[in-house]
Amino acid sequence: MKSSTAVASPGIEGYREYLSERNGDADLLNRRLAHREAFFAEIEANPIRSGRSIDAVAFERGMRTRRPANDISPELAFLLATAKLNQAERFGVGLGETYGKNSAGDTLPERVHMELEEHYHTRLLAYVLDLFGLPFRVTPPAFVMRQFVKLAVFIPESQSFAFVGASEMAGCAMFDLLGQAGAALFADEPKIAARIRLLYGEILTDEIGHVGYCAARCSNAGRGIMRMLYRPIVRLFTRQTPEILRVVSPHALDERLSHPFDLAGYEGSLASAPFVAAHP
Ligand SMILES: [Fe+2]
Ligand SMILES: [Fe+2]
Repeated sequence: MKSSTAVASPGIEGYREYLSERNGDADLLNRRLAHREAFFAEIEANPIRSGRSIDAVAFERGMRTRRPANDISPELAFLLATAKLNQAERFGVGLGETYGKNSAGDTLPERVHMELEEHYHTRLLAYVLDLFGLPFRVTPPAFVMRQFVKLAVFIPESQSFAFVGASEMAGCAMFDLLGQAGAALFADEPKIAARIRLLYGEILTDEIGHVGYCAARCSNAGRGIMRMLYRPIVRLFTRQTPEILRVVSPHALDERLSHPFDLAGYEGSLASAPFVAAHP
């Protein structure tokens, strides 16, 4: 059941078309999506730098610890959360890549796009750090997160979509809340705030697509599991990256989790239109 014709529904067909239009040609060997490269060329052609000075030594220290110091500023907390938020996904994508998960001749085209999009998420977040002259660092996610990610990567595909889909939903909530909090934090530097919104917004557009794709690959029961696991996974993410709740107010998080997951609610945070193959 892996050939590109075997797994198809109108939603999935539409998503395939959307991905090739949004991303352009996919080059797995060089981990490139043609249109995304064009996006970064534009970002690089218009470099901007925040006037705020962030303590680079405190940033490096923060990257090496799982428990942030009590006195870190909200700005530093935002940047540490930005640097750490995608490490679990990066770890999972790297693991899948190492095991050749999306490299077989019969790999569905959307899987290649999705894997490459995840690489771009690391890069999009690195450009947020670059606004403050901070480097991108690779750090392994915490033990609990590593086991969680391995489970998602190695359980059989038929069961993985509900699980991965729930994580993608949690990712949407985290990226949205953190992007908004970051833009608010730097509201006095409108260009910086707009760039944060753009970079986070591009990730969110992709993640919403991933939610829709997972939902389309799930049965009704699977979609029920996605909705059920979404909240505990958000809580797991925030426990594992405590910097998040130093910048996103716990009240904003509780408020978000008090409603059922709603893709329409994300519209205001997006830079490009997403494609939803199916609703979770
Ligand atoms: Fe991602
Ligand atoms: Fe994703």
